[in-house]
Amino acid sequence: MIIGTIKEIKDNENRVGLTPAGVRELCSAGHRVLVQAGAGIGSGFSDAEYASSGAEMVDKPEDVVSQVEILVKVKEPISSEFPLLVLMAGKTLYTYLHLSGVDPQLTEELLKNKITAVAYETVVGKKGGLPLLAPMSDVAGVLAVQYGSQYLQKKYGGFGVTLGVVPNTEIANTVVVGGGIVGTRAALTAAGMGGKVTIFDINPARVEALKKLFKKTLGTKLAQNISVLVSEPNVFAEAIRKADLLVGAVLVPGAKAPRVVKEEHIKSMKKGAVIVDVAIDQGGCVWGSHATSHSNPIYEIEGKIYCCVANMPGQVARQSTQALTYATLPYLLEMAKKGVIKAVKSSLKKDGGFAKGVNTYAGKIVWEPVAQDLNRMNDYADLAEMLGVQKKTEHHPAEGGIEAERPHSALEKTENVREEARKQA
Ligand SMILES: NC(=O)c1ccc[n+]([C@@H]2O[C@H](COP(=O)([O-])OP(=O)(O)OC[C@H]3O[C@@H](n4cnc5c(N)ncnc54)[C@H](O)[C@@H]3O)[C@@H](O)[C@H]2O)c1
Repeated sequence: MIIGTIKEIKDNENRVGLTPAGVRELCSAGHRVLVQAGAGIGSGFSDAEYASSGAEMVDKPEDVVSQVEILVKVKEPISSEFPLLVLMAGKTLYTYLHLSGVDPQLTEELLKNKITAVAYETVVGKKGGLPLLAPMSDVAGVLAVQYGSQYLQKKYGGFGVTLGVVPNTEIANTVVVGGGIVGTRAALTAAGMGGKVTIFDINPARVEALKKLFKKTLGTKLAQNISVLVSEPNVFAEAIRKADLLVGAVLVPGAKAPRVVKEEHIKSMKKGAVIVDVAIDQGGCVWGSHATSHSNPIYEIEGKIYCCVANMPGQVARQSTQALTYATLPYLLEMAKKGVIKAVKSSLKKDGGFAKGVNTYAGKIVWEPVAQDLNRMNDYADLAEMLGVQKKTEHHPAEGGIEAERPHSALEKTENVREEARKQA
């Protein structure tokens, strides 16, 4: 199969869809790989490294796109890339898409060109979870706290505090809404600095799991810095009122984010408080949020500083590219080996996790939350029916999915490694 990647052109996006190591794996499996010259520079990978790994280097993106069967990217195509989608007619695009949160015209272009669009963020793992979103969520969780501490400085309009421990001063409060991968990593980072953290989730089972995880990861003393709570309205409102930093990290997979932090919550916050709405790629979960860029990351409403960059990991591209491609490559190898549609059909016959990544196919929206959010249920069709596959009704994690699947998140992986080390010690 012919696979390729092009240089990302979204503002300050430095990640790339394939590393030289990934190219080597694809080539040794017998595939042809095309890479646009300069595509890996932002992540520290030179053209020479790609070429010596077996890639054919191509100057123009259109010359990659017109030849490949699968185009691997990182971010959703932006409007200046839409002409490339015409050259992609009937082919496969494998990337983050966030169709419920970005320019609706992108969905139109994908449908018009009958592109099979596989969105990283809706692929479900064998054990549940979102294995292609998780690595970037780990990165964004750390960055949410790094950015938060930066914008709390006076020169940005912030309240003028650190998130760390300064003797004889009040310790800053971080409130995290959504206790998934982003929220957990943000809470660990802020609490690790010695700050006070309150993290809310709607799911009581997740709340209990987090309490155990924080104790295990931080030890009893530092874990005392974190309160994990189910979102009860009065407690939620009071915590936000006192927050120096608010991190939005709610996700309903593949759907527009619910605006769980309301206008009255924001108005109650102190002047100079900072809001980092990480969930902005799905539309944002905080009143007043709108997407910003790395070039122009912040704005102010009611004296509160908002930072809503939709591609946060793009600025720590070396680590982000490595973590992302580590997760995406096994699925890519499977699609290349079997053919995309065969890989999707085989997933549908098993647990259906990989097939959930397919958002558009043959001119139809096949991921229902996107069709609903975009008010396009007329364009929705059931993927299994379109492909003539009898879906398995129950989830059988042990049987399904793609063989080479990797852990749910770097955090869990680190925890597993630590647990092994503890056992061996
Ligand atoms: N801006 C960026 O650069 C960037 C990078 C990575 C991830 N993200 C985004 O961050 C968001 C979170 O990602 P994640 O991987 O942590 O998702 P996740 O699925 O791991 O976690 C989401 C959590 O939100 C909780 N939740 C759902 N509804 C809620 C509600 N009403 N109140 C409180 N909690 C609620 C869920 O129970 C879950 O625990 C997603 O939108 C993701 O796309 C953005």
